Amino acid sequence: MRVLALLDGTLADPDAPLLRVDDLGLMRGDGIFETVLVVNGKPRELDPHLDRLARSAEMLDLPEPDRASFERALTLVLDNWSGGTEMALKLVYTRGVEGGDGTPTGFALGLPIGAKVLTQREAGLSAITLDRGIEPGLAERAPWLLLGAKTLSYAVNMAALREAERRGAEEVVFTTSDGSVLEGPTSTLVTVNGRTLTTPPATLGILPGTTQAALFRAAEREGWTVVVEPIAVVDLHSAAGVFLVSSVRKITRVHTLDGKPLADSSAIHAELADLYESEY
Ligand SMILES: Cc1ncc(COP(=O)(O)O)c(C=O)c1O
Repeated sequence: MRVLALLDGTLADPDAPLLRVDDLGLMRGDGIFETVLVVNGKPRELDPHLDRLARSAEMLDLPEPDRASFERALTLVLDNWSGGTEMALKLVYTRGVEGGDGTPTGFALGLPIGAKVLTQREAGLSAITLDRGIEPGLAERAPWLLLGAKTLSYAVNMAALREAERRGAEEVVFTTSDGSVLEGPTSTLVTVNGRTLTTPPATLGILPGTTQAALFRAAEREGWTVVVEPIAVVDLHSAAGVFLVSSVRKITRVHTLDGKPLADSSAIHAELADLYESEY
């Protein structure tokens, strides 16, 4: 089950060709996207996702995405969905065709959640740390690297996941060259110690996560302490819980890191999952 809608407010056949071969999103990965979780027809964190789409567009000097057009397209997808209770809603926006008039290409696409993600939500996952080659201060010093923008250029992120697979793990925790934790290829890292949640700062050059923000909002309301500060890799091994969170994977437990078992965080996981769901 897939539903595709265009920014002009029309539905399109997701199995039929749509993009031109010279679309810069295809040719150079020159574009941006968002993936929104939809549960029972209701998109979660839609405003933060649309805000982040606008921020990514600004970082790439793309024309500002027309919010009303995206809202119309995604509503069309929601209205025509007859799949399961959950949907991954992709919003895609590229620089348009090479040598064209600069009109961006954009669409909204509803997809089922992948089986692997669903399994990992329940069972947790094993991860490895991989160097992302980012040093502190790089994001501000070199804005052309687009660190923290959600661009379509995810080839590096996908290569890291294949490397994890080669090493017998399922996921990746990217690190800076000096051993500080960044994020997963498609997720934000959160640690738990006592009643404190910690996540690394976006200023390190990582994507500010909408799921992490929702979780922190709920946790703070329930009296938890939430902290945004650098986390050293060694701290992951002593944490009471390590989690990778994202819109589609929700709150997923990391049970093994670099081949070493982490603390059993099943009970904390249940608590965090409840906190997160309490937002909706
Ligand atoms: C690199 C990266 N970091 C973090 C996230 C988590 O963001 P969100 O919680 O908004 O889905 C994603 C989402 O796909 C991502 O690609």
